[in-house]
Amino acid sequence: MAVPFLSSSFQLTATSPILFSKVKTPIVHKHFKKRTAPTKPRFHLLRCSAASGTAVVDQTEGGGGGEVFINPEEEKRVEVADYDWTEEWYPLHLTRNVPEDAPLGLTVFDSQIVLYKDGDGTLCCYEDRCPHRLAKLSEGQLIDGRLECLYHGWQFEGDGKCVKIPQVFVHSLTEDAQPLVFEVTERTNRGFAGTWSREKDGGNRTNLLRFDAPCVLPNNLELEGKDGVKNYFSGVFLCRPTGQGKSMLIVRFGVTKMSPLVSVLPQWFWHQNGCKVFEQDMGFLSSQNEILMKEKVPTKDLYLNLKSSDTWVAEYRKWMDKVGHGMPYHFGHRTISLPKVPPVVEHAPAGIIAALSASYPAKGGIGTMHAPNLANRYFRHIIHCRSCSKAIKSFELWKNILSATAVVLTTLAILVVSRQWKAVLLGSAALLSAAAYGCLRAIELNTNNFIRTHRRL
Ligand code: FES
Repeated sequence: MAVPFLSSSFQLTATSPILFSKVKTPIVHKHFKKRTAPTKPRFHLLRCSAASGTAVVDQTEGGGGGEVFINPEEEKRVEVADYDWTEEWYPLHLTRNVPEDAPLGLTVFDSQIVLYKDGDGTLCCYEDRCPHRLAKLSEGQLIDGRLECLYHGWQFEGDGKCVKIPQVFVHSLTEDAQPLVFEVTERTNRGFAGTWSREKDGGNRTNLLRFDAPCVLPNNLELEGKDGVKNYFSGVFLCRPTGQGKSMLIVRFGVTKMSPLVSVLPQWFWHQNGCKVFEQDMGFLSSQNEILMKEKVPTKDLYLNLKSSDTWVAEYRKWMDKVGHGMPYHFGHRTISLPKVPPVVEHAPAGIIAALSASYPAKGGIGTMHAPNLANRYFRHIIHCRSCSKAIKSFELWKNILSATAVVLTTLAILVVSRQWKAVLLGSAALLSAAAYGCLRAIELNTNNFIRTHRRL
């Protein structure tokens, strides 16, 4: 397999602030242009120039009604200079503010770039997209000076060379990452089907996957115990397209034998864990979508699909090639059709308003400030899930009861004279306050998105 490289690299200066210029070589996955510091960096500030027409002003006193117009002939004249914005230098960042332990995502016009320090402390700058499936590299992390994409864990050296693909090789005994084996067994106009399993299981735990167009995907696994008894695990993914770059996923799991732990823990606990999985990937999927829309080319020109773990991705895109022409818009493996209208953008609240509107969603709120933000777990999951919204209401109620009781006990502790009673009342108030805090944390757990800390300290 040819070694993948990061796509475009950019020139940087050794000055502070660091200057940036675009390398005008269209490098896609294969080629890396050596970074050279220019001998004489140029630093241009953007200026707004004044209109060049001549204004005719009536300055005589009492000359009201005098016209202040730019000469119409001058207005028509457009002077076009030979000037290339992409050949100029732009300030990127202060050197001292470039993090030592994390990549930094920046933009220059519509170029998204990632800036970081490699193992030698050398500043590296690349297009902010992973050559595998376009996730933002600035969302990744630095591992021993290598830039790691957080989507599937590919790692890149400072020269852009990919040096680790977890899906292809077992890299260490402590990692569970390992090759998966895939086989497509059926292809029709209505979808495809196949099997997949872990290499180290030797084909004993083979999953059967089927994609039934347009939006049903069951995955079944047969498990045979040491006693020869067979059990079955099944996951069904139902997907409804809800707009450009958006879909609603309904997931159902079924087992013939369940661990007692699963039935003891409440449903909201499992749901908030399930939400985490989607939240980890949502940012990558959105940046992937953004690049597809910007580049307007089929996925074969942008993805570096692995023969193993990307089998279903490639199969799905190839199926799109067959049927996508009838869809409102699609990105296939070799074909695309672009949307005719731009996507609807929900104006969602931010900061403290977002927190309030997530906990107390208002229907028909003031203007667009309370439009539901689908990036927010509350609007994405809780309002659709009866058990989770019931759990939140219970936590809310208990939080209020416990807090109010704690206040009453503290007041009584102030009023009573006996030291023993003071201690008992204050101790109880402290316990109730801790329980109220626990309820608050449980509400947060269910309504806030999971945020991954990117740094392995
Ligand atoms: S490793 Fe970067 S997108 Fe897959």
